[in-house]
Amino acid sequence: MVVTLKDKSFEVYLKETEIRNRLKEIGTQISSDFKDEDLLVIGVLNGSFIVMADLCREIKGVSIQTNFLKISSYSGTQSTGIVKEVIGLPDDLQNKNILIVEDIVDTGVSMNYLLHRLENENPKSISIATLLFKPEAFRFKYQLHYVGFEIPNKFVVGYGLDYDGLGRELPEIYQLK
Ligand code: IMP
Ligand code: MG
Repeated sequence: MVVTLKDKSFEVYLKETEIRNRLKEIGTQISSDFKDEDLLVIGVLNGSFIVMADLCREIKGVSIQTNFLKISSYSGTQSTGIVKEVIGLPDDLQNKNILIVEDIVDTGVSMNYLLHRLENENPKSISIATLLFKPEAFRFKYQLHYVGFEIPNKFVVGYGLDYDGLGRELPEIYQLK
């Protein structure tokens, strides 16, 4: 299936069932890694809102709290590499197990910035879950603990990801044609 958003055409890359199944696996892994622990799950807006909703419901037997924050750094189909600011950081992160949830780690600039910002708050631990990861674009060395899919360095939309604000609601992930 092909969708057109503004001037660009996209074709299906990952089907809804593949994504759901993978999030179930990751949720099971997180559930076992944080068994008997408290976990604060923080989604990075806007892109993570769908992954957050689906992933959180696959975490079982762990006492979780959920929150969101926002970083603005991106426009069009190419990362500007400029991170502006973190908005809505929850207070009192000290001694908490934090799980950051992202839709995608591309160059890694945004996550790098967020990691440093969160480390300042002296949490007990910080882990990262991202639905998508572009290894060819990644410019850092920090660990991504839970990765849904490694994908080629091509622009994608759907399942929370947008092209200039469009396409977030698409249930599949689409790749630029
Ligand atoms: P990074 O800082 O380069 O890792 O990318 C940061 C943000 O850019 C991600 O959280 C996404 O919101 C957005 N982004 C990166 N790659 C894509 C893409 O292929 N499609 C849509 N948004 C993307
Ligand atoms: Mg994002």
